[in-house]
Amino acid sequence: MKSSKINKIAVLTSGGDAPGMNAAIRSVVRACAFHKIECIGVYKGYQGLIEGEFKIFNARSVNNIINKGGTKLKSARSKEFRTLEGRQKAFEIVKENSIDALVVIGGDGSFTGGMIFQKEFGIPVIGIPGTIDNDIFGTSHTLGYDTALNTVVEVIDKIRDTAISHSRLFFVEVMGRDAGHIALNTGIGAGAEEILIPEEDMGLDRLLESLKKSKISGKASSIVVVAEGDKIGKNVFELAEYVETNLPDYEVRVSVLGHMQRGGAPSCFDRVLASRMGVKAVESLMEGESSVMVGIQNGQMTLTPLSKAIKGKSKINTELIRVSEIMTT
Ligand code: F6P
Repeated sequence: MKSSKINKIAVLTSGGDAPGMNAAIRSVVRACAFHKIECIGVYKGYQGLIEGEFKIFNARSVNNIINKGGTKLKSARSKEFRTLEGRQKAFEIVKENSIDALVVIGGDGSFTGGMIFQKEFGIPVIGIPGTIDNDIFGTSHTLGYDTALNTVVEVIDKIRDTAISHSRLFFVEVMGRDAGHIALNTGIGAGAEEILIPEEDMGLDRLLESLKKSKISGKASSIVVVAEGDKIGKNVFELAEYVETNLPDYEVRVSVLGHMQRGGAPSCFDRVLASRMGVKAVESLMEGESSVMVGIQNGQMTLTPLSKAIKGKSKINTELIRVSEIMTT
């Protein structure tokens, strides 16, 4: 859908926060300032749009945030925006304030809301993928993913120190509601013995077999990385108990990394990616694009229809699965 001239853009962050969101806000605001477009920062995601909670941002409003985790605009998962009444209220605010377009920084839930809003009220929406899970189709990297990988590897390295000292087997649960990207990459990066991801159900027998083998091969301590959304049928504590019962030679501990994975200063990669995505989002709106998501594919900025970004599945790299198997030899 081609839009008319864009004079005012509103930017918001929605869903789970991710490192790099602030850098993306900064980029949208500065790209607007560069192109003489008014920019509005909406607080608390779609809920803030419904409640009219926003401020006019100029280039100086986003000083000193490129290096900060979290989101200056705050984030929320708005239940009200899921209803037509809620979206109608948001549209009234958009109309009253002469907002011509929206840039939504978030994950698939946030894009679904944006897509429906554009369909119902004709307000152009562009998405910037921000989630540590990297589970969005149409981009090789979402904002925050690279930072989260580095955070997790750093922590598992520390867990390894204590695992070695006590000759223990650690189950480390990492985030990833439906996707194993964090688990697979950090598992390889931190030298895990096994990696359990939702995309591949290795089964309990194979897990026991593999741990038995590694003990026989002379490994005294081990790390198993488990994605939060793993489908093996037991949560990480039940899994640990099951292994300890069946392999009494192992002394098992569990570490659930949790929300610390979403915090911290963004990596250089995420800062650069966010800066590129913000510029691309604003300039695409100026060119009349809408209902698309900005992404990075083969190093280039791309646009993918929101409908595809939401429905398509980001695929697990099967080469990585093979590499991880070879590395546990
Ligand atoms: O989607 C990002 C994510 O961090 C998932 O990995 C995790 O399952 C979920 O958000 C946690 O959500 P909340 O912060 O609402 O508990």
